[in-house]
Amino acid sequence: LNYRVPRTRRDIFQTLIKGLQRLEYRGYDSAGVAVDGSGKDHAASISLYKKTGKVKALDEEIYKNNAIDFEAELDTHFGIAHTRWATHGEPSPVNSHPHRSDKNNEFVVIHNGIITNYKELRKYLVSKGYEFESETDTEVIPKLIKYLYDNRENEYVSFSTLVERVIKQLEGAFALVFKSIHFPGEAVATRRGSPLLIGVRCQYELSTEQIPVQYNCGKSGSLHPFFSNQFLHPAGHITSLHIAIIEHTNKVIYLEDDDVAVVMEGKLYVHRIKRKAGEDPVRVIQTLQMELQQIMKGNFKAFMQKEIFEQPESVVNTMRGRICFDSNTVILGGLSDHLKEIKRCRRLILIGCGTSYHAGVATRQILEELTELPVMVELASDFLDRITPVFRDDVCFFISQSGETADTLMALRYCKQRGALTVGVTNTVGSSICRETDCGVHINAGPEVGVASTKAYTSQFVSLIMFALMMSEDRLSMQQRRLEIINGLKKLPELIKEVLALDDQIKSIADELYHQRSLLVMGRGYNYATCLEGALKIKEITYMHSEGIMAGELKHGPLALIDKHMPVIMIIMRDACYKKCHNALQQITARQGRPIILCCQDDPEISKMAYKTIELPQTVDCLQGILSVIPLQLISFHLAVLRGYDVDYPRNLAKSVTVE
Ligand code: G6P
Repeated sequence: LNYRVPRTRRDIFQTLIKGLQRLEYRGYDSAGVAVDGSGKDHAASISLYKKTGKVKALDEEIYKNNAIDFEAELDTHFGIAHTRWATHGEPSPVNSHPHRSDKNNEFVVIHNGIITNYKELRKYLVSKGYEFESETDTEVIPKLIKYLYDNRENEYVSFSTLVERVIKQLEGAFALVFKSIHFPGEAVATRRGSPLLIGVRCQYELSTEQIPVQYNCGKSGSLHPFFSNQFLHPAGHITSLHIAIIEHTNKVIYLEDDDVAVVMEGKLYVHRIKRKAGEDPVRVIQTLQMELQQIMKGNFKAFMQKEIFEQPESVVNTMRGRICFDSNTVILGGLSDHLKEIKRCRRLILIGCGTSYHAGVATRQILEELTELPVMVELASDFLDRITPVFRDDVCFFISQSGETADTLMALRYCKQRGALTVGVTNTVGSSICRETDCGVHINAGPEVGVASTKAYTSQFVSLIMFALMMSEDRLSMQQRRLEIINGLKKLPELIKEVLALDDQIKSIADELYHQRSLLVMGRGYNYATCLEGALKIKEITYMHSEGIMAGELKHGPLALIDKHMPVIMIIMRDACYKKCHNALQQITARQGRPIILCCQDDPEISKMAYKTIELPQTVDCLQGILSVIPLQLISFHLAVLRGYDVDYPRNLAKSVTVE
């Protein structure tokens, strides 16, 4: 942060801590801040506070320190703060960020991402006498900048030039913010592969909606402030995610890879080392449409619960303005320009991780049916491990709630390199996947805070169905089917409400199950994805062992697990697989299994074989998975609460996994 208005040190801490708290839902194991030190010449020293565990613990740690004059007013100041999710080295204060160059904290750095060549850099710096205190990859960065500073000889080197020189040596992915006692009141930020944005706030109306990017001409790169005195720019908030700054400003600039941004004396400068052909020389100031209350919990116990109950509205938001129920047409504006090309493609490849991958599994069959194209569904990591052949006439979809998942992003770059058309399906406008794909669909589910994804899944599901409908618009033979699906989509919000009304019944089932160690979820056809997604929800937040089982595979292994003690949830809806699921049910009951069955309303055949049933309204076969996943979302939520776990922040998991 860099204000040109006096603030007390207490304000500064509170702003930083609040920003970290807004990011808490993403999962982390430790946190830290660095601010200008106490004393008369406050910018001549830097104070560091780091703590393992919750941001609250860090906050308490700061206030324990009697030496800090919290009421002292500072007119220019710059603080940095970070939550860490361990990748190298265990969670501990010393491994937390900010990392420092030396015991005097001459340079401090926060980093998101991963430095892949850190071992070589560390070895070199150790050989030059630099002592490392942590096990992290990040620590090479403050050491390296100090090394370059110490060896600048008589040359004047600006802070941003030093940073440029540092990033030239770095391999991997990073979003970095630097602070230094040698450059008081100045902040330098840069990125490559990890998201970074700058919140801007102005005293006056902005005269323009964009800021020009400077390119280095001389050796040290001269910088020109964009904001003249007339349009004084008093605040810069730099963050990896807009939620951290939304209460300060809704005007943001997304930095591009290798942009170097400097906030100095209340002015913002963005520049690049050299200009590449065809590169856009401006960074647009965007206005975020997100309200703070949208990300607050309301009356719910947890964000996840709130998000489950938001699904009647979130699916409407996904469809809004895109489906014309009178003419039975679907228009996804972000794809229109590329539709011809997509229709001519050789195959569709759907790529994602976790829940987003399951959205691909859930919609594959209807995509195959309506597009008559081969459809592959791929886990991003495995897709890359296999060095999967990709061709120029492939269309690759990158499904990602956050739009920042590293594996998915790397798969995107891989496909792009091979000339395929790339399509993003994301929930985060301006995210890396949005920006790097050729075209895409915003699923518009609204911010999802709970680490376990719920409403994003159903909105991804609806988005991919809409895509299948758009692709088949001119196919006469498919009109009847299309009509059926479009009518199904129209009724969907009401049916979701009916399913949510079963919450009490679902809670009573959770009351019976919460002490179990394992829970199997079984089904096939359109509902196989529901089994995978349900089992993922259960393991993510209840820490119970859970497996999504393809009922067709029952006899090839999973049947061995069945006895009267093993809890099994089965999904048996009235669709083409009904008979086969019925057979599977008989296999289970013949082994004294006591299945809890998700089935359609009024199905006495099934009910009499079930230990318990959860009866769902029926919809079109390819949409049924949107309804059947909801009881599993709810059951996992209740199980986690009953087992005493923190639903929104499951151990060891992060909302947005920006490392490989
Ligand atoms: C993490 C989250 C999951 C999510 C997955 C993919 O593992 O904990 O909930 O499904 O990443 O995230 P994305 O943002 O790409 O959908």
